[in-house]
Amino acid sequence: CGIVGYIGKRDAATVLLNGLKRLEYRGYDSAGIAVLNGALSVIKQKGSVGALERAVADSSGLLKGGTIGIGHTRWATHGDPSDRNAHPHLNAAGDIALIHNGIIENHTALRQELSSQGYTFLSDTDTEVLVHLIDRIWNEERHLTLEGVVRRALHYIEGAYGICVISSREPETLIVARMGSPLVLGIGEQEYFIASDAAPIIEYTKKVIYLADGEMAVMNREGFAVKTDKNEEAEKNVTELDFKLEEIEKGGFEHFMLKEIFEQPSVMQDVMRGRIHLEDNTLHLGGVKDHLEKLRKAKRIIICACGTSWHAGLIGEYLIEEFARIPVEVDYASEFRYRTPIISPDDVVMVISQSGETADTLAALRMAKEKGALVMGICNVVGSTIARETTCGMYTHAGPEIGVASTKAFTAQVIVLYMLALALSIGRTIKDEEIALYLKELSEAPQKAASIIAQHADIRAIAKVYKDARNFLYLGRGFNFPVALEGALKLKEISYIHAEGYPAAEMKHGPIALIDKDMPVIFIATRDSTYTKILSNIEEVRTRKGKIIAIATEGDQEISNLADHVIYIPYAAAPVTPLLTVIPLQLLSYYIATERGCNVDRPRNLAKSVTVE
Ligand code: G6P
Repeated sequence: CGIVGYIGKRDAATVLLNGLKRLEYRGYDSAGIAVLNGALSVIKQKGSVGALERAVADSSGLLKGGTIGIGHTRWATHGDPSDRNAHPHLNAAGDIALIHNGIIENHTALRQELSSQGYTFLSDTDTEVLVHLIDRIWNEERHLTLEGVVRRALHYIEGAYGICVISSREPETLIVARMGSPLVLGIGEQEYFIASDAAPIIEYTKKVIYLADGEMAVMNREGFAVKTDKNEEAEKNVTELDFKLEEIEKGGFEHFMLKEIFEQPSVMQDVMRGRIHLEDNTLHLGGVKDHLEKLRKAKRIIICACGTSWHAGLIGEYLIEEFARIPVEVDYASEFRYRTPIISPDDVVMVISQSGETADTLAALRMAKEKGALVMGICNVVGSTIARETTCGMYTHAGPEIGVASTKAFTAQVIVLYMLALALSIGRTIKDEEIALYLKELSEAPQKAASIIAQHADIRAIAKVYKDARNFLYLGRGFNFPVALEGALKLKEISYIHAEGYPAAEMKHGPIALIDKDMPVIFIATRDSTYTKILSNIEEVRTRKGKIIAIATEGDQEISNLADHVIYIPYAAAPVTPLLTVIPLQLLSYYIATERGCNVDRPRNLAKSVTVE
């Protein structure tokens, strides 16, 4: 979910609506706003922030004159997307409003207790218990301030939260608290902002403070205070945001996803900048330099991640094992954390996360740290929780990624893993001339990626042919097996067509049963050591009349005799190919989804940042 809060001199409803639009990628099934303007005025409903904005415009100035308020855009966990389940939630008297991101795990017990005390629930959410709890405590202890009441109420809560609370009983205060769900405080000139990430804040101020778990911030018009769970003033650093407003705008593209796909050549350069030195074939990886020896000596590297980041992790496994000869395991963070994994202090646990906030990945990291492993992070969002809690790490520098389906963050993650794998192998497992070759090959990737993107019209034409297919199969081998998984995921996420990724040879053990004339099969068939094997796999599909779309190396004529469509990519050394082969797959899913009329930036049921487990 997305959270935004404001206190200052501006019209709160306008600031909140703007903020919610920028946060919509965190959830978009319902949205709402509460402001204090003499009364506590609320508008909330099912649907998008755009719909909420229209409702605000049609409300004949209900929110007018308020300069303090809170806003929420929801990704439903407990309770279906509906008007009554939309946040903010209010107490019965209608003088306290609260928004929440996270999951209150003991909500059933609290709900029973509060119901037996006469509290009536108007929603199915877990959140509503908290507002009634605040109400109860305040009625029992009227001398308390809003801050005191919220603090006390939070003692009863188990689970994760990022909350914002306002009340007309104390109309000059905005209270926020964090446990597990991210919150960023923006410091302006006599105005303060709060949000679940920096996107809504950047247009007003670059100065921010990241709240930590257990912290609470109290804001009024004169200032703010951040307090620890022991009610002591917390020492906080003010951080300068490192991105520009343009980076979170569409800049002429129809969708963020398309913009982000097109940005990849320049993102690739940004990831490598200052890190690769071709003049002497060295790598300068500042974020891990003090730990390189420990990383090199690792008995094992365990990579944990979710979604697309997990796919990047799989490529990381191939890269690190190939170059550095260190055993690597890749695990879904959600599985790792609950299967009592064996972790020893000689292990390195590497977590990969675009947002740096994914709940399962964060939990995996904390667990590994507790067991004494060296924890390393690969994150995109600077200052994110995972980035802060890892001992060492590398930023991907892909810039803000807004499209829910991850694209440029993935290629940036793969580049980071590639550079790391090489850095771990220098002087150990591969020869100097190989280092030189692989660095050169990597440095050529941006320009090759640009030449693939330039073929977008041809890829769109293929998308038109297959837009109505019900199933797709994606096949690849070696470095490109994870790309097959990623291609299938991209299609599922945004076009709602069922797709599966498989290691090409494994097809014979199951998926081949699905192949008929209606089944498009995408083969990643670049020229590398498994090329001839893949050709045999293509024959097997052809024999069964499947439709074949091949991603192949420029100049490969042979494949055009076998495939129905070929998308050519420039030649690259095998370890570099995932950076290139993924691009046509991203574009293909983008065009299939738009041909089908799907909203690619806001695919149904998904959210960009999953801060609940
Ligand atoms: C969500 C997003 C995916 C992303 C995954 C992991 O499911 O929709 O695009 O890959 O979370 O997110 P992270 O921020 O940890 O990379």
